[in-house]
Order: sequence, then C-alpha cells, then structure tokens
Amino acid sequence: MKTFISTPIYYVNDIPHIGHAYTTLIGDMLKKYHQLLGDEVFFLTGTDEHGQKIEQSARTRGKTPKEYADTISLAFKNLWDSFGIDYDYFIRTTDDFHCHSVQVAFQKMYEKGDIYKGEYEGHYCVSCESFFTETQVIDGKCPDCGKDTTILREESYFFALSKYQEKLLAWYAACPDCILPAHKKNEVVRFVENGLNDLSITRTSFEWGIKLPASFNESKHVMYVWLDALLNYVSALGYGGDGERMDFWKQPIHIVGKDILRFHAVYWPAFLMSLGLDLPKHIYTHGWWTRDGKKMSKSIGNVIDPKEVAKAYGVEILRYFLMREVPFGQDGDFSEKALILRVNSDLSNDLGNLLNRLIGMSEKYFGGKISSANTPKYFQAELEALHTILAKLPLLMEQMQLSRYLEELWRAFVLANGAITKYEPWNLIKNNKHEECEAFLGLIANILGKASLCLYPIMPVSATKIADCLKIKISHQDYKHLVLDRALLKDFTIEKIDALFPKIDGFRLEVAPQPQAEPDKIPSKTPAPPKITPPIDTSETIEISDFTKLDIRIGTIMTACKIPKSDKLLKLQIDLGEGRYRQIVSGIAKYYAPEDLIGSQVCVLANLKPAKLMGEMSEGMILASKDEKGLSLLRATEVKSNGSKVS
Ligand code: MSP
Repeated sequence: MKTFISTPIYYVNDIPHIGHAYTTLIGDMLKKYHQLLGDEVFFLTGTDEHGQKIEQSARTRGKTPKEYADTISLAFKNLWDSFGIDYDYFIRTTDDFHCHSVQVAFQKMYEKGDIYKGEYEGHYCVSCESFFTETQVIDGKCPDCGKDTTILREESYFFALSKYQEKLLAWYAACPDCILPAHKKNEVVRFVENGLNDLSITRTSFEWGIKLPASFNESKHVMYVWLDALLNYVSALGYGGDGERMDFWKQPIHIVGKDILRFHAVYWPAFLMSLGLDLPKHIYTHGWWTRDGKKMSKSIGNVIDPKEVAKAYGVEILRYFLMREVPFGQDGDFSEKALILRVNSDLSNDLGNLLNRLIGMSEKYFGGKISSANTPKYFQAELEALHTILAKLPLLMEQMQLSRYLEELWRAFVLANGAITKYEPWNLIKNNKHEECEAFLGLIANILGKASLCLYPIMPVSATKIADCLKIKISHQDYKHLVLDRALLKDFTIEKIDALFPKIDGFRLEVAPQPQAEPDKIPSKTPAPPKITPPIDTSETIEISDFTKLDIRIGTIMTACKIPKSDKLLKLQIDLGEGRYRQIVSGIAKYYAPEDLIGSQVCVLANLKPAKLMGEMSEGMILASKDEKGLSLLRATEVKSNGSKVS
C-alpha cells in the first residue's frame, strides 16, 4: 500500500526547537511503523518561506527574504539529517515547481467557481498569519497567540469556504478518526457548526509571496501564505506538474500541532474538495511542550535546543522520552529530571539489563546458543501473555496513543523480568533441568526479539542493535512472522554487545538562569493543607505490630478474565514469586478491561483468609484507591521482583 505522511512545513523565522523536533520525530516514527506493515511510504517535510512574517524578519536582519530563508531552511534540513530523519523529500515553498503548482490549484478552484474577487476588511495577526473578525479578537489582540493584530482593508480574492460547511460536517461525521485525538475533533466540529466565513486568499500590502497566475493580470496580489503552504503536500507529489507521485495521495496522514489544527482540519479539506482530491485519513494533533512547567520563550532563554539534548543524551533517548512521557495530544513538560528517570528506570533497568542477563546466562549455560524448540512445552502461559500484549499495539499506534503503546510494550519486559525472578534459571541449571532452562532462555529471547521489532519505530538504532544480537532482521517479513503471526525465533547463537543504556548519574544540559521568585511572593508560613473528606478517624490508632500483620507483596497479573454473570468481578492469576499462581477475585471489572491488566504489577494483600466469591476461590486482595475520578490500582513506580514485600 502507498502511504503519504507529512509534518507541517516550518516557518523560516525561527531556528528549530524541541516542538519542531517532536513533530518531525513522530513523522519519522510513523514512516518506520508503516514500513514494518509493508507499506511504501512517502514522508514529506520542509520549510514554509513566504508571507509577511518572513518578509519582516528578513528586513530586520538586513537580508532579502530569500537569503534569510536559505539560511534557516538549511538549519532545519541539517538538523533532520543529523537526527537521521528518513524524509523522502524536503520541500521549500520557494521551489519553482511548488509556486507553479499553487498557481495551477488557484486556477482550478477559480474555474470551479470557488474563488471570487472582493475586499477584505478585518483584523490580521502577522505572527499566526491569520485573519480574524471584530468579534473574534480580544481587545484588539489575536485570540490564538495574544499578540497585537493589525486592521486590514484591501482588495482580495476570496475562497468560498462557507460553501463547504455542510460537506465538512458530513466528512467529520463519516470518518470518526479523521482528526485524532477525539477531543480535538470535537473542537473543530464546534468551530465549523458555528458558521464559516469565506476566506481571503490573496494579499496586496506586501510582496513576498507567490503571484497569481498570469491570466489574472493582477501584479499587486500575492497568495495568502496558508493557501501556498498547505498546497505543499500535493505539490511535492507533482500536482500541477509531472504528477508522477500523485498515486501516494490516497488517504494521506498529517501530523500537526494544536495551534495549526484549524488550517488543516477546516481550510485544507475544503481546498481538497474544491480540487477534487482525496481527504486526509488522519490528522494527528499534538499538544505543546513547555520547559519545567513554563512556556518556552526566547526572552526567558528557556527554549530547548533539540541539538543540545541530542548531544547530551543521544537522539534515541530524545525520541523515547518525547514519545513516552506525554500522552499524544496533551501538552507536555520537558524536564531533564524526568528524562533521566525514564532512562534509568525504563531503558536501563527494564530493557538494557534484561538483554545483558540474557546474553550472560546464555553464554554461561549454553555457549551462547539459544533455542525456542521447547519453549511452548514449559512456558505456554508466558508466550500467550506476550502475544496478548503485542496484539494490542497496532490499534494504539493507529490511534496515535503513543505513550500507551510504549507502556503496553514495556509490559513485555515486566513479564520477562518477572519470569527470571520466578523461574530462577541458575537454579534450573543447578538442578540439572537443562531442557527447561534452555526453553526459558528461548522465552526471554522471544520476548526481546518480538519487542525489538515493535520498538523499532520509536528507537530505530537501539532496536536494530537488539535485533542484530538475536539474529532478527528489522523487516516487514520478520515483523509479520514473529509479531503478527506469532512464530517463534529460529535457533541461533547470540551476539554479545556492550550495555545499551548505561545509567545516567547527573544533569547534562546547561540550564538557563531561571527568574527568581520575588521575596514578597514567598509565603511566610507553610499554608494549611487542603481539607480532605471523609475525615480520618484517629480515635482508634493501631500499633506498628498490627500493621506488620499485613503481608503486602508485589505481584504480576498473568491472566485476567471476567466472571460470568458478574459485572463487578474479575478473576486474576497473580504471580507472587511462590512457584505457583494465586487466584484472586477482585471487584474492578468496571474500571479495567481484563486485557489491560495482563503483565501489570500490583500490590497484593497476600495473607488474607481465602474466601469464595461467586463460586470462585480468592486467595488475597489487590489494593486500589478510589476517588471521584474513579479507581486506580496501586503500583510501584518501578518494576519489582514478584513477591517483594511492601512495608
Ligand atoms: N508554517 C506553519 C505550518 C504550515 S503547514 C502547511 C507553522 N510553522 S511553525 O514553524 O510555526 O510551526 C510548525 C509546527 O511546530 C507546528 O505544528 C507547531 O505546533 C509546532 N510547534 C511549535 N512550537 C511548539 C512547541 N513548543 N511544542 C510543540 N510543538 C510546537 O505553523
């Protein structure tokens, strides 16, 4: 299948920062994922170089707009090259073929009866390159960025956007996933339902833009920068020119930040309808990054330079952190401390250590030879748990729930680490259970191998290193065979490699000085904690010896299913490191789907008297907390050995 994926094209009035890197890394990730699925992908990125904002920025630097654009465009391209971004084309809106393509599109919309001449009167925000009516501006300021708007009154050509209101609403209704996440789509639907004004698509008060087709004989007019910019997605495929790559324009996928959603989810589909071209399959909309809780701004000096982060930690870690830390669609905070925690806990402990242990044990016990021939005989339950986890990933990726995707994937590593604690392969060898130990290491190799294929889009270099170790090819064939068709690894000899993710023991980024709190704003005494309801009963206190009677342990949920005729209860098999699974019946069915629990670690009250619930024996209780937002299971912040005590 041919698949088209795009990032926004970046304005050349600013050097690349972490927000730009985020969008581009996600595009690259998505390309790699689609390649695993066997798709032929065209991944487009580039720079947006026309418009009043660029003209002004160039002038203040004493350069022509083109000279200025050349420098910044190159900075973007160089950054993506140094990050190993696998784009198929880097477009610049000053490319001749693009300018020609925009003129062809303008002509076509005009012939369709969607463009007419009039006069625009209203507000304009140069920073957002966006028009606003009197009722939309707030005290004369832009409702999107808060900067001053200017009042325009000029002759203009208009695109008949209002004609497309009903068609757009019909499209949103017919394609539930055309804009994701869903709450962003709701915002767009509400905006369109409120009514659309026709859109001014030419400007006359500056010069830095694409001219109208010669047949219009309008030397004063240049194209509105958003019409020019949005058309990059098809001009790069040859629209209005050789048209050679237009076969990629089937159900295209766009990645955009929330600030430019309206342009992509309202104007762009209307332009496409006017041109008779396919509408997007998905417009994935992400939130904004802040730094240590503050908006990034040049004046505070807290803008994160992605080059610096990559220099300090490597692109792989940057990719993992950005995609894991914040649910896609929400705003996120870039904190170096959080990044280090992610490396030390997720990458170093859960993943890197696991690979080291596999290499170490297989070398020691079997001269590096690994075989899965007997793995199903001894470890069928673990293999099933693994395949259940991996089967959830495609939908999470399609829905762009990236942090959930990684969270799920990490359950596979929790499963593997928990199994090592449980089966103690060193004791299997001591007790002459060679076949079982070999099958066990086969299990761990399968978990790591299959997981490395699923990790590849997010951490391509690290995943390839793991795959090389395990003699797997990162390819559509191996992905299909091992992940989708659930085959096991062929026998192989493991390759030794150095530790993948050494622990990080201190900050590596230079921190810009942060503004100090003003003395009179520091509270003079500790404020009283907020009131909590219901009140805590302190009339009957307990001794510590009472508490120690409770034997609370960490355990991993191995299987989970509903209990027939009960809408409250789930039946769980939990590994508490006892050499058998405990069955626990728990009243959490309203809050958790069984498949979401497999592989999770929970806290278990392990010495509760067994009891029968709905005819099922329950040997303990899992701990949870409930408030008005719902119920959450209590968990350790890091993976613990099954059976670890909670005190
Ligand atoms: N040129 C337009 C896009 C035209 S696409 C046909 C533009 N350029 S931009 O350089 O201002 O922004 C490009 C992208 O970077 C947007 O998706 C925007 O959301 C994203 N980001 C800019 N700052 C950001 C953060 N601080 N955090 C996350 N992304 C943000 O808009």
